[in-house]
Parts: sequence; C-alpha cells; structure tokens
Amino acid sequence: MEIQASHVFTSRDLAKSREFYTEVVGLLVSDEDRNTLYLRGLEERAHHSLVIKHSDEPSACHRVGMRVFEDEELDRAKHHFERLGLPCQWVDVPFQGRTLQTVDAVGTPLEIVATMTQRPRRDMDVQVHRGGAARRFDHYQITVPEVAKAAEFYTSIGFRIADYITAGEHAVGAFLHVKDTPYDIVFVERDGPAFHHCAYIIMHIQAMLRACDTAGVLGWPDCVEYGPGKHALGHSYYVYLLDPDGHRVELLLPPIVYMGRCACDFGCDANYACDGMLGIASPKLLVFQPIAISRMGDRKHSRHQPTAISREIPSLDCMTSRRVGSA
Ligand SMILES: [Fe+2]
Repeated sequence: MEIQASHVFTSRDLAKSREFYTEVVGLLVSDEDRNTLYLRGLEERAHHSLVIKHSDEPSACHRVGMRVFEDEELDRAKHHFERLGLPCQWVDVPFQGRTLQTVDAVGTPLEIVATMTQRPRRDMDVQVHRGGAARRFDHYQITVPEVAKAAEFYTSIGFRIADYITAGEHAVGAFLHVKDTPYDIVFVERDGPAFHHCAYIIMHIQAMLRACDTAGVLGWPDCVEYGPGKHALGHSYYVYLLDPDGHRVELLLPPIVYMGRCACDFGCDANYACDGMLGIASPKLLVFQPIAISRMGDRKHSRHQPTAISREIPSLDCMTSRRVGSA
C-alpha cells in the first residue's frame, strides 16, 4: 500500500481555496466544476492528491486516501478489513478506478484505490510553478485517543514503525511508513479521529519563503501558523499553513538522505538522518517482523532510550484539529 491519493476537504468558498492552493501552496488544478476542485503536485501523474468540495457546513476532512499498486490488492484489502469487522463499500469516484471506502480500527474514514486518471508531470515546466511549488503529497497526521491501537492496525496492513513517542510505557505518538521516507502517516494522542495536517514536499527553502510571501501579498498573512523550522526526524525544514477554511497544510523539504546508513552515533539502519534521540527502530527489523505495539517502549527493540515526549509535542498543543469524516 502506498500513501498517495487523495484526501477530501470541504470549503465554504471554493474560489478562495483555489487561490490558496494554486498561488500559495503551488498545486495544479487537474479538473474542476462548480462544487469540486481536483488538485495535484507538480511531479504527480495521478489526477489528484487533494479534492476540495464546496460545503456551507463547518469545514471538515471527509476521508484520507491511500493507493495500492495492483487492482487485485483492493479485493485483498476489502477481505482483510471485513474480516476485522470494519465496514467496506465500493463507490464510484470521478477520475478514479475501482474505489474502496472503509474505516480503520480507530475510526478514520479511508478511501483506497489502485488506478486513477493520469495527467502529465509539470515539475520541469518552471513557467507554471507558483508559490511553494509543491511537488508531491508526503504524509498525513491524525489525532486519535488510542495511538497504540492505530499503530498496531497499520503494521498489520504492511506499515512499519519508523519512530514513536512514549510517556513512560504509554504510546502517545507513532510515525509509520510504507515507502522509503521518514513517515507516511503519523498518529498523535488526542481526541479524534481528527485530521491534524497533510504535508507536501517542496524542493528548497526559497520556495517555502515564496509561499509565505505570496500568502502575505494575497491577504493571508496570518495563514503562516508555525515555522519555518526544522524537524527532528528527517531533519526537514517545514512550515505549517492554514488554508482559508482552517485546514492545516505543511510544506516541507525532502529529508536529508545519506548514502549508506544513518549518520547518527547509534548504529541504526535508517538511510535518512535521525538525530540519535528520537528512538528510530530498525526498519529492517520491522519489515520482517511487524512489531507489536506492546514493545514500543522496549529497549530490546531499539538501541535508543525510550523516547520521552518529544520537543515537537508542545508545538502541537497550539494547533487545533479537524474531525475526520464529520460531514
Ligand atoms: Fe507533518
């Protein structure tokens, strides 16, 4: 399974949303009608990674999307989810192939597809690059009351734990990935399920500053909520923006990648830069032996100290979350 397509936000003013996502974030409009915007990053060939639907209701995130490589994997996913007693249904979604809607073990509405209408990559067409020139979708962050339950469920469907945060023996944050990136989906303990943010990769710090400058010029100086700053995990520079409806979007640079293995002093196997403090477990270990959540604080499975509440947590406390699937 790959995290790629496509999450669905609501907007009370689609024109404002269009301006924000094209001029500030730098996404491309793949298609649009009176009530819906389909957006993608500059290097994305899939038709959309973000769908925004007009609604006069309070803003919401309807669902988060994931993609599998083969169509037949959708049938296996449906069988797996149904075996766990989770509701599944096939739905018709414009520009998408066979689409499965379901719910994860902590109540997050999911949409899973294998195929989608294709559009040309525009990453080399610099004349169309705007604002942050967002290139590709990177990750979601969801808040849930039961982080351990969420992480256990996602490891059961092929995700690996890249990092975690504990308060004593209690898991309060889990970073999971299926691609060779620091994380594809993050769960943090709080009420939920609620959508905290989505993130798009941008290529350089100038693009981040241009996104912030553009937001100011277009009348949204307050949309820069947090940052720019630098993450611990992956060492990426980031900025968090709030769109006109209050949905949070992170723009971040690619992680610092070392040829060979992690450059920390702890001998971990990550091929991106961990900072030697956050307890990155060995991806190799987790690939072949999905880790049980009860082991998250077990030092036998990590050469690092069990992680105390990270320095990133205080920043989350100032951020509100949007309930997922409330519309
Ligand atoms: Fe993030």
